[in-house]
Formats: sequence, structure tokens, C-alpha cells
Amino acid sequence: MTKFLFLSMALCISAFGFHSSLVYGTFVKNMYINWGTRHSAFLGNGDDAVLVLDRYSGSCMVSNKSFLFGSIEMQIKLAPGNSAGTVTAFYLSSTGDKHDEIDFEFLGNVSGQPYTVHTNVYTLGHAGREQQFYLWFDPTEDYHNYTIHWNPTAIVWYVDGEPLRVFRNYLSEGIPYPNLQAMRIYASIWNADSWATRGGLDKIDWNESPFFARFRRFRARGCEYDGPLSITQCATPRPANWWNSLGYSQMSHEQQAQMNRVRDKYMIYDYCNDIKRFKGWLPGECFKSQV
Ligand SMILES: *[C@@H]1O[C@H](CO)[C@@H](O)[C@H](O)[C@H]1NC(C)=O
Ligand SMILES: *[C@@H]1O[C@H](CO)[C@@H](O)[C@H](O)[C@H]1NC(C)=O
Ligand SMILES: *[C@@H]1O[C@H](CO)[C@@H](O)[C@H](O)[C@H]1NC(C)=O
Repeated sequence: MTKFLFLSMALCISAFGFHSSLVYGTFVKNMYINWGTRHSAFLGNGDDAVLVLDRYSGSCMVSNKSFLFGSIEMQIKLAPGNSAGTVTAFYLSSTGDKHDEIDFEFLGNVSGQPYTVHTNVYTLGHAGREQQFYLWFDPTEDYHNYTIHWNPTAIVWYVDGEPLRVFRNYLSEGIPYPNLQAMRIYASIWNADSWATRGGLDKIDWNESPFFARFRRFRARGCEYDGPLSITQCATPRPANWWNSLGYSQMSHEQQAQMNRVRDKYMIYDYCNDIKRFKGWLPGECFKSQV
């Protein structure tokens, strides 16, 4: 499972800047390209973005602001055709060696084969909490809504409003949870053909390049980080922080049923079932309710 060690190599580091208020907006007002400036563009009035991968470079965009909790959406249309070896990512991350991170990654595949949606959580630099899914549609045909909902109680990954996965806060029982470090929002495309497709067997076919990943309707509604006081302020259920409210801390029975259906049908890999990898010592959260 060493391939998983490389998943966050495309972390794009940048300096912090603190503000406070709610953000609702577009790429041009809220994000910038921090590598691959010649392999990326904000289009139209700045509500659309394209990231490009060819044999020379990939690219990455990052939000100017950082957040501690919130609901972050991106509509994404992935590179069609033979995308084997490419990874397109949409993720939240803090900086430093002991960083926290919440990932949506799309692992390319050969023509006619499905992309793998890879999800993961890092706490203080430690990952190893992978769950992977196929999608119930072709993600290269149209834009779809990918949302990360993060609050002090739980992280939920949604695809077109359907919950795929929950990671709940069991810090009180000694299970790590990201709730102290503010995160920026990133999207990127890069060459990961050493591991991404069938463990690295399928390499990028550069004759198929350039690969285009398209993004639109980026929406970050969250608690902006404004220094250490934010750690408590952002965690309070005050009305402005609607993403912390009870309705977003516990799934309804209907949502639970929806998630179970998705997981039954489309889940490919769950670290909590990988007893061999953990030599029988599965992480603590695997024994806890995750709804
Ligand atoms: C975002 O940050 C970048 C890099 O520091 C800067 O060039 C850009 O003007 C900033 N954009 C906004 C809207 O603040
Ligand atoms: C995207 O999905 C999230 C999570 O279900 C939802 O809150 C949001 O309204 C959706 N956005 C759009 C534009 O449909
Ligand atoms: C690509 O498709 C094949 C066949 O369905 C599958 O085994 C593989 O897991 C898919 N995804 C990746 C990233 O290899």
C-alpha cells in the first residue's frame, strides 16, 4: 500500500493571509494559480477554470483564504478518454509537516474504464484512511457537484448531494480528528503514473495529452481563519456557522439509507476492511459508528 504515501505529493504550499467573513464566489475572486500558470486559466467572467496536464507540467489552484470548518463545493468535469496515470484532485489542506487534509481525488483510467474516486483524511501529517468508489455516471461527460462538508462533529463527502462517506470526530476517545488547523482549498491535475492506475501498471499515454480538468461554480461557505481565536469561534454553533448545526452533525435516516446504498453498490476499497495491511490492528475509528 506504499502507493498511498504519494497521494498528497501535489500539495501546493503557500503563505497564509487572514480575514474574516463568509465567502461565496468564483475562481477569479477567491483563488489563484500557484503552479503551472501556463497550464491553467480562469475563463469567462472567472466562474470557470481549467487545469491542464501535458508532458511538461500539471497545475494547481489554491484559495486565497483559509477556513476552519465549512461547506466547500466544486463542480468538476474530468479529462475524457485514456486518462490512465493522471490524478485530478479537489482537497482542503493546512500547511506544515503535521498538516491536516481532506481529499477528493480522481484517479484516471484507460479508455472505457471508470475513474476511481479516492477519499482520505490526514491528521497531523498521518493519512492511511482511504476509501475508494466508482461513480454511477461518467464524470467526463458533464460537470458534477463534489462537496466536502467539514464541521467539529464530522466530515462528509458528497457527490451530487449523495453522501459517500462520513468521518466522525471521536477525539474524546483518542481518535485523531482535524479540528485545530485552518485549511485552504486546492484543485490540481498532475502526473501520478507511478501509482494511480492499477498500482502504476498503466502509464500516461502522452499522445493523449493535453489532459483538461474543468471546474466551475466553486463555492466556499465556511468560517474564515483569523488567528488562534478562530479555533473556538469557528467551532461554535452560532447562527452564521450553519454548517455546524445539528442538521449537519447527524445524518437523517434518509441520508443514512442513501449512503448505505451508494457504499453497497459503488465502494471499491475500504481501509477498515484491510486487515492484512494493518496486521490485524485496524484504526480505532473503524470500530465506531460512521453515520
Ligand atoms: C490571492 O493571492 C495571490 C497570491 O498571493 C495574489 O496575487 C492575488 O491578488 C490574491 N487575490 C485576491 C482576490 O486577493
Ligand atoms: C452541491 O451539493 C451540496 C451537498 O449536498 C449541496 O449543499 C449544494 O447545494 C449542491 N450545490 C449545487 C449547486 O447544487
Ligand atoms: C480502472 O478500471 C479497472 C477495470 O475496471 C479497475 O480495475 C481499476 O481499479 C480502475 N481504476 C484505476 C485507478 O486503476
